[in-house]
Amino acid sequence: MKERLIVALDFDTQEKAEQMIEKLGDSVIFYKVGLELFLNSAGSILKTLSSLNKKVFLDLKFHDIPNTVAAASRFAAKDKSISMFNVHSSGCSEMIKQAVKAKRPDQTLIAVTALTSLDDDDIKEYFHTSLKTSEFALNLAKETKKAGADGVVCSALEASIIKGSCGSDFITVCPGIRFTETSDMGDQKRVLTPNEAIQNGADYLVVGRPITEAKNPKEAAEMMLKEMMKD
Ligand code: C5P
Repeated sequence: MKERLIVALDFDTQEKAEQMIEKLGDSVIFYKVGLELFLNSAGSILKTLSSLNKKVFLDLKFHDIPNTVAAASRFAAKDKSISMFNVHSSGCSEMIKQAVKAKRPDQTLIAVTALTSLDDDDIKEYFHTSLKTSEFALNLAKETKKAGADGVVCSALEASIIKGSCGSDFITVCPGIRFTETSDMGDQKRVLTPNEAIQNGADYLVVGRPITEAKNPKEAAEMMLKEMMKD
């Protein structure tokens, strides 16, 4: 299960991120570096993680014209510390194909479907569609698969329908995880507990604040793993 828990290092300095990595020790082997930390550390957090033999999911959600995304993906492919990176599926087929072409064969390329901070009302208002978020996410997942990516970032609420339609080997990476339904959701709207997420077909859980803002982050990560392993 350790391979399937990705801790989001959402920090504004490299020092704070390094302190968290030290606190979590052996209990976490896979980390997500997003926009905040990547920019604040000017990318150098990747070297730290690589020197500690940690796996990296580079969560920069590329979304631009195909040529620009191809160049960004070549950067991600060159850095051996990056084992997973992502694009936005709404950048459409040609953009995703360029990222697929650029990635290393041992890298996992996933595409964001509908952000877990969006719910049915947001999707309706902003995208002018009557589709439920789950159908909207499923359609994007199908297009992502056609374009050749390895999987998607989605809510664990949609993981099982996406697996059902795109195949069990199509990878689902799921943020929006909370210890209980009543935990502080922050800005997340589509959440599940770790156990529900695994039962629902999530391959990887991306967890930030429930671990990094816990009084004892190592204990919280271990509890998360225990919950993930329950039948
Ligand atoms: O703190 P929390 O567990 O909500 O963090 C979730 C992490 O996953 C954040 O770093 C956020 O940027 C990321 N993420 C997300 N929803 C997506 C894609 C990424 O919450 N669809």
